[in-house]
Amino acid sequence: MSGQLQSVLHPAGPDAAIISQFAWVMFGAGTLILIGVMVMLYLGVKRAPREIRPLRWIAGAGIIFPLVVLSALLAWSTWRSAQLTPQSSKASLVISVTAKMWWWEVRYHDPLTGREIISANEIRIPAGRDVYVALTASDVIHSLWVPALAGKRDMVPGRMTGLTLRADKPGLYRGQCAEYCGTQHARMALHVVAETPAAFEAWLARERQPAAAPTDAFLERGRQAFIGQRCAACHTIRGVDGGSRLGPDLTHVGSRLHIAAGTLRNHRGTLAGWIADPQSIKPGARMPPANDIDGETLRALAAYLEHLK
Ligand code: CUA
Repeated sequence: MSGQLQSVLHPAGPDAAIISQFAWVMFGAGTLILIGVMVMLYLGVKRAPREIRPLRWIAGAGIIFPLVVLSALLAWSTWRSAQLTPQSSKASLVISVTAKMWWWEVRYHDPLTGREIISANEIRIPAGRDVYVALTASDVIHSLWVPALAGKRDMVPGRMTGLTLRADKPGLYRGQCAEYCGTQHARMALHVVAETPAAFEAWLARERQPAAAPTDAFLERGRQAFIGQRCAACHTIRGVDGGSRLGPDLTHVGSRLHIAAGTLRNHRGTLAGWIADPQSIKPGARMPPANDIDGETLRALAAYLEHLK
């Protein structure tokens, strides 16, 4: 899978391309104006003193020139921004994202079962299609920004906003919370995984399944640890516990690329480290340390979570 870029200058979708073009045109126009002013300043200083006509300069360079140039830029940018994708929930796919301190809950409406598929910190989308992402927050104001795909949009508690994401081709696009929201604002990242429509459908079909059952005694020990070690007080593994949504849903956590909101790559080792001591990785995060767990149980728990693909 290509790309991990989080750059306005490397657009990978139509809206991001328009925004990138804004940046370049404004930068180019600003540069030309700066060069013009510098040249005139140079001529003014260098040239022998001669009579100038102040009224002509004030009218020409002070009024007419800025009026023409700024009006042209305003007209162009108004026309161009009207071509941004309309924010409409009529898109072929609607995904709901709720920002929390400091992670993202991602919910897909499953057309087959009518139920919701709940995930975290990763938005899967089919490439080449408009995806409407309905946004809200549950505690403070956050902001979703995936620079390669779209502009940013604030996520406000008690209010629904939305954004259209469209990736031209499959790839991995990093996003980041763009509104200061507390201690771990910087480690509130997410990834958009754009896949071919067929791969997306296959992924959705896997997510629709209940959590993978343990296939041996070691994994079963991990499953028991999940229930016994207070994990189930905040997290859900569908079919294993009562369904708390305080923390990320872990039904298919093994299929995600990262944990802790884009902070760590997801594998057995990082899972174990995160469970044992989340506060040294993300101080202030809501997850308490499991400092009373023994090594073997921790290994089993991490292996079980990794197994949940
Ligand atoms: Cu959430 Cu900054």
